[in-house]
Amino acid sequence: MSGLERYIIEEMNEIHIPVLWSEVLQYLAPKSGESYLDLTAGYGGHADKILEVTQNYNEAVLNDRDQNAIEFLKAKYQKVKLEIRHDDFYNTALQLVENEKKFDLILADLGVSSPQLDRGERGFAFSKDARLDMRMDQRQNLDAWSIVNSWSERRLREIFVQYAEASEGRAAVWARAIVSARPVETTAELAEVIRRTTGHYERTHPATKVFQAIRIVVNDELGLLERSLPLIVKLLKPGGRVGIISFHSLEDRIVKDFFREESSLGLESRLEVVTKKAIVAEKTELANNPRARSAKLRVARRR
Ligand SMILES: C[S@@+](CC[C@H](N)C(=O)[O-])C[C@H]1O[C@@H](n2cnc3c(N)ncnc32)[C@H](O)[C@@H]1O
Repeated sequence: MSGLERYIIEEMNEIHIPVLWSEVLQYLAPKSGESYLDLTAGYGGHADKILEVTQNYNEAVLNDRDQNAIEFLKAKYQKVKLEIRHDDFYNTALQLVENEKKFDLILADLGVSSPQLDRGERGFAFSKDARLDMRMDQRQNLDAWSIVNSWSERRLREIFVQYAEASEGRAAVWARAIVSARPVETTAELAEVIRRTTGHYERTHPATKVFQAIRIVVNDELGLLERSLPLIVKLLKPGGRVGIISFHSLEDRIVKDFFREESSLGLESRLEVVTKKAIVAEKTELANNPRARSAKLRVARRR
């Protein structure tokens, strides 16, 4: 067995179940022959479902910033002719706009994939002790270790207020604890530093929000989303649909506000909102896929 084959089997074992996939099909409503841009193709779960309907591989572009996902997609789709891009979705959207490409269907399923969370060495999760990393794109320099060990107490406090939505007081306690504990090498060490500031806790580990904030900064998650949304509109054909799945309120607010603004300009509006309220997972999906718990889908149509 080749290294690549072994690697693919390992990844398959940690299979990523696409969230809200039947709702994506319902609201994006793909049709035979339509073109498709998947900005966060990951392990191709949603792409499979959509391409099964469109059957238009020649006009499909699958993008992801994660090297492992790209290797997986290349192997998975080696027998069909579709374009696979290894970049962040802002760069990809920019290049596609420059090349005057247009699509009937665009999907962005934001956040992390199950293999990113489950593979300890990626350093995303405190349940798997590993060097602090959290980079979705392994080619990038900025990682969680450098933020935790070299950013000033004031900057740490600011990101906890902004991206963990913590109170000033709580953010200051976390930032102080981290700076005093340096060097903080691993995910488990960071989780313990934060836990010690809280003592007893009930359901959610107090480090969850701290990890969220650091991950958002490492991957510039909100900045890239904000800058990409106007490009996505340009990439849609008239009548084309875009679906965005977000996993926390900061992302969802950006999508909701953008869709609202773009659909409330009267005759100037470029979008029409298809999902008046965010679509969330049904109980049956939640029972099988805990990742779907915080997923919210919003869909809009290009006028
Ligand atoms: C939730 S997973 C997508 C799973 C995919 N829909 C599937 O069904 O297999 C999110 C993926 O988005 C990628 N990603 C997140 N932000 C990105 C960005 N700004 N540019 C490109 N890829 C990104 C991550 O690397 C990850 O593979």
